[in-house]
Amino acid sequence: MWVADTDFRAPPVVLAAMRDRLDHGVMGYSSAPDALREAIVARMLRLHGWRIEPGWIVFLPGVVPGLHLAARHLMADRDHALLPIPLYHHFKRALELARRAHTDVPLVLSGGRWVFDEERLAASVRSGTRLLFLCNPQNPGGTIFTRAELERLGELALQRDLLICSDEIHSEILLDADKTHVPIASLAPEISRRTVTLNSPNKAFNFPGAGCAWAIIEDDRLRQAFSADHHATIHDPSVFGYVGALAAYEGGGDWLQAQIDYLRANRDRLERFVGASPGLAMAHVEATYLGWIDCGGLRDPDPYALFMRHGVALSPGAQFGDARFLRFNFGTQRARLELALERIASAVSSTRSR
Ligand SMILES: Cc1ncc(COP(=O)(O)O)c(C=O)c1O
Repeated sequence: MWVADTDFRAPPVVLAAMRDRLDHGVMGYSSAPDALREAIVARMLRLHGWRIEPGWIVFLPGVVPGLHLAARHLMADRDHALLPIPLYHHFKRALELARRAHTDVPLVLSGGRWVFDEERLAASVRSGTRLLFLCNPQNPGGTIFTRAELERLGELALQRDLLICSDEIHSEILLDADKTHVPIASLAPEISRRTVTLNSPNKAFNFPGAGCAWAIIEDDRLRQAFSADHHATIHDPSVFGYVGALAAYEGGGDWLQAQIDYLRANRDRLERFVGASPGLAMAHVEATYLGWIDCGGLRDPDPYALFMRHGVALSPGAQFGDARFLRFNFGTQRARLELALERIASAVSSTRSR
């Protein structure tokens, strides 16, 4: 129940489009179809009321390369970044490999949601702080940041002259029907001009192995700086990634809704289970198919190893910044979810009989 992809086949329209592309037979170098740029522009407007232009889009083979480009090209050698933790581990890795300084800013549980400690965030800005990394919706915490929360982050970025790199790859896996995703760049033109937004249909439509992602960057200079590695170390998406993305956006809507309904029921099952398990706790998952489970109450020094001994593999929390936690990927068939829960129950009860 670990790496963040699901166990579901991609939508039939995506598979058909990829099959057609294969049947075409010529797999030469390619570039993004104009229709895909237009589809992204139309989707941002329809879903978020966010008006972008086709020329703002920079295609990438994945969102992770985008994190690395941000760390390398939006920051000078001596610049410093802010990193909310816990966080999908490739953000930190990008900064470490780029040898850029950073400060971890712990998220806090407030009203049952993982949110910024805004005072601590502001106090972590120092001379040379250039970049705020944001993951919205949050992996592993499952938070959909509200418009008001994002406005306050935007305000900080304006006041302290920070760039924002916002990874929004989970923005279409919203499990709470009454909540909406707000791209931080959509808040105001002055926020947009200092923001790189990373996104991809990889997660929502489950074809990350075919790879297609992009950055949306309004500001010309920022876009040119970000794109410096293109065709040097960073390649374009594959021909299958392009056609898969376009097909998903054109015809994957019903499939996506059905998947979200299924994932929501999995989430509810997991939350009930954790709520009834002594020693475990978990915040409500607003988005993503990931549960961030606090195992501190088990008083076991290595909950990851404990669960493994009972036949269930989760992601170790240390990967995301807190070893007391485990991350549970519930993007799977209900029967497999039940099996995993049975094994976790047996691990939990073993700690009580010690
Ligand atoms: C927040 C976040 N960003 C990026 C990725 C990976 O993106 P890609 O496969 O497009 O590189 C993941 C996958 O788990 C993720 O959760």
